Amino acid sequence: MQFNKDFVFGTATSSYQIEGAHAEDGRTPSIWDMFCDTDGKVFEKHNGDVACDHYHRYEEDIAHIKKLGVDTYRFSIAWPRIFPAKGEYNPAGMAFYKKLALRLREEGIKPAVTIYHWDLPMWAHEEGGWVNRESVDWFLDFARVCFEELDEVVDSWITHNEPWCAGFLGYHLGQHAPGHTDLNEAVRAVHHILLSHGKAVELLKGEFASSTPIGITLNLSPVYAKTDSANDQIARNNSDGYSNRWFLDPVFKGQYPVDMMNLFSKYVHSFDFIHAGDLETISTKCDFFGINFYSRGIVEFSAASDFLYKGAYSDYDKTGMGWDIAPNEFKDLIRRLRAEYTDLPIYITENGAAFDDVLEDGRVHDQNRIDYVNMHLQAVSDLNEEGMNIQGYYLWSLLDNFEWSFGYDKRFGIIYIDFDSQERIWKDSAYFYADVISKHKKAIEQQA
Ligand code: FCB
Repeated sequence: MQFNKDFVFGTATSSYQIEGAHAEDGRTPSIWDMFCDTDGKVFEKHNGDVACDHYHRYEEDIAHIKKLGVDTYRFSIAWPRIFPAKGEYNPAGMAFYKKLALRLREEGIKPAVTIYHWDLPMWAHEEGGWVNRESVDWFLDFARVCFEELDEVVDSWITHNEPWCAGFLGYHLGQHAPGHTDLNEAVRAVHHILLSHGKAVELLKGEFASSTPIGITLNLSPVYAKTDSANDQIARNNSDGYSNRWFLDPVFKGQYPVDMMNLFSKYVHSFDFIHAGDLETISTKCDFFGINFYSRGIVEFSAASDFLYKGAYSDYDKTGMGWDIAPNEFKDLIRRLRAEYTDLPIYITENGAAFDDVLEDGRVHDQNRIDYVNMHLQAVSDLNEEGMNIQGYYLWSLLDNFEWSFGYDKRFGIIYIDFDSQERIWKDSAYFYADVISKHKKAIEQQA
């Protein structure tokens, strides 16, 4: 595999999944603290109270990032640290991210910052959360102080991570916080999340006149039909609409997909939450497009299901999440995005895998994770040969961490965490990734 000299290698995390320090320096609870505390939502009622204790160990973690040799590190900002209460800015919370970004820069590592990675403050939730259109203003207050305080030290901004999860998984499927199961709420939540994205882009480029690149990260999963039958094609179309097009179309085409609006109208009685001008704002041009890729979907027709599809059997090899390992389908996805949606530079802002790691004599021989990462890096390299213009890759994740509803049961890190001692132990995949990066750097030096 081969990458050009400007290609960036990175690794990614998010605030609630690693920081811990849940009640320090003024932080108040987020919807995830509440969700973790609710019976039956998160594996063994695990929570992020301590997580990887990154809030206290960030210097040690930066040393690991440095040792990996990555160019860039993606992390997110915990909103309830910055606004512990409505309208109440907390500089003590912001101080942590300043220290973090500055230390990264001192080490020559570019901070790539996600503004929202799902930890909505409880005060916002109590006023309706993302379902309330005012959430757009609350988010903009949050984005504004992030830009004011951090724009100088941040290399790129990501407004939102995976609106599908924050919106559909949280408000329709109920598997993520806040755990609601109402499509009416979910389409509103998604709309306000996307609108807040567009407005934040306008704010940074307009009022702040900043040249820091800004974009959004979507999780996309190419969907395949079990058979060629007309019914399975309907299933495929609807599943693609629910997972991908409901987000891609507004962001890149300034419209929601009409077929999906019709399908959703069984539950969504009015789309009056879409105000004049909203879709123009949502489709405001960004500087890059972030994609989180993990797997593909395969579906078949199901008359009994709401949207006429259900998951179909797949004989693919799977990760520890039970997700199909699908680097070829990843290629299909990128080609489709180029053909149908966008010319913007693409960054793979997350890719990685959970497996059942075993710590033996101080080592974790995670050949399965090495293979997974290797296949996807190879795919990125192949795609770039086709001219697909992927400019960077962020491995999810730096550390084993709080994997949402799976708690600490699923390990995505390339660095193993002993959650009792907080010891960090490099898995074989970390050595592998460091090696890929150092070989790349040597190759570039030789070319120069
Ligand atoms: C993505 C999330 C990230 C992590 C990975 C495994 O959906 O953005 O926080 O949980 O999945």
